[in-house]
Amino acid sequence: MKYYEPRLISLTNAIVVTAIYIILFIIGALIISPDVLHHLYPMVYLVLSASLLFIISFLVFRFTLERFIYSKIRLIYKSIHSIKTKKGEVKTPRIDTNFLDVVSNEVEQWQQEKSIEIKQLRQLEQYRREFIGNVSHELKTPLFNIQGYVLTLLDGGLEDATINKEYLKRTEKSIERLIRIVEDLDEIAQLESGQMQLNITRFDILALTREVIELLEMKARKKKIRLVCPMQEKPLFVEGDQEKIRQVLTNLLENSIRYGNEKGRTKISFFDMDEHILTEITDNGIGIEPEELPRVFERFYRAPRGRASFSKGKGLGLAIVKHIMEAHGQTANARSATGVGTTFGFTLKKV
Ligand SMILES: Nc1ncnc2c1ncn2[C@@H]1O[C@H](COP(=O)(O)OP(=O)(O)OP(=O)(O)O)[C@@H](O)[C@H]1O
Ligand SMILES: [Mg+2]
Repeated sequence: MKYYEPRLISLTNAIVVTAIYIILFIIGALIISPDVLHHLYPMVYLVLSASLLFIISFLVFRFTLERFIYSKIRLIYKSIHSIKTKKGEVKTPRIDTNFLDVVSNEVEQWQQEKSIEIKQLRQLEQYRREFIGNVSHELKTPLFNIQGYVLTLLDGGLEDATINKEYLKRTEKSIERLIRIVEDLDEIAQLESGQMQLNITRFDILALTREVIELLEMKARKKKIRLVCPMQEKPLFVEGDQEKIRQVLTNLLENSIRYGNEKGRTKISFFDMDEHILTEITDNGIGIEPEELPRVFERFYRAPRGRASFSKGKGLGLAIVKHIMEAHGQTANARSATGVGTTFGFTLKKV
């Protein structure tokens, strides 16, 4: 029992009132007749009346006290309840023996819920601020570049045959980059809001990987990087959204080329793990520092080594990979050793 409970307060008050009554009764009796205490009837009367007084005063105190407290907290309770429950479900607390406990438990629970909510809102606000900052930063570079090229062309460059075509080409490249950033952002926004509908089918991951390799062969050749895929003929059937997995493979293979060393190699391996197929893409490129590794899947994150050796990255590719794999209920992971190479892997359900 808590010391401030109405029951305990009423009990103390009833004891005090009864004790005062008994004392006054005894003093009064002694004044009227000193030997009255030796008689049975006055004593029986005293015991009975004191008991009755005790019970009545206890009940009156308790009722008044609870009414008073109840009237004070009812409004608070009601407003908390109307926030907690849906419209029309507002419940008024009943005055029963433990209504204060009920109310205090509910308020405590409500307070915990609210503090979690506030924490989440703060994180969301922080994320929103960072996101807007990152987006505007990413958009700024190509926009300023375009502005620079156009101004040069307007300032007479248009007539200069040595630069006009070149500057238009550069403008086109910057526009292309802007479009890619916006497309990636749109993709991330859709994946994060859960609006992305996956078109799950059964497909051969080996065949899909070969298709992606074919498309990236030119890029790899420019850096003299060999893309090595297992020779096996047997298909590896998995379940997933083929187009989204194509994007995952493209992003990972592009990274292995982008952050790979000249004359390097990227090896693609498949591992049969009972219910899943694990696909791994291993390069022998610049690698990622151990402290950077957990962050590479964050949107807009670019490790300092990567940034230095390849400035055009947007830092969105791996965030998209992570979201796509999570939407599949699967995971993507990475391990790396600086100067040795990096391995990215993801699993898909075998069918
Ligand atoms: N294979 C790799 N080897 C070394 N570093 C890598 C590798 N893959 C990714 N990284 C690091 O992780 C960072 C994030 O990669 P991510 O693919 O998300 O972005 P990006 O390649 O910079 O740009 P984009 O959005 O165009 O893909 C890169 O900037 C790079 O620093
Ligand atoms: Mg990338």
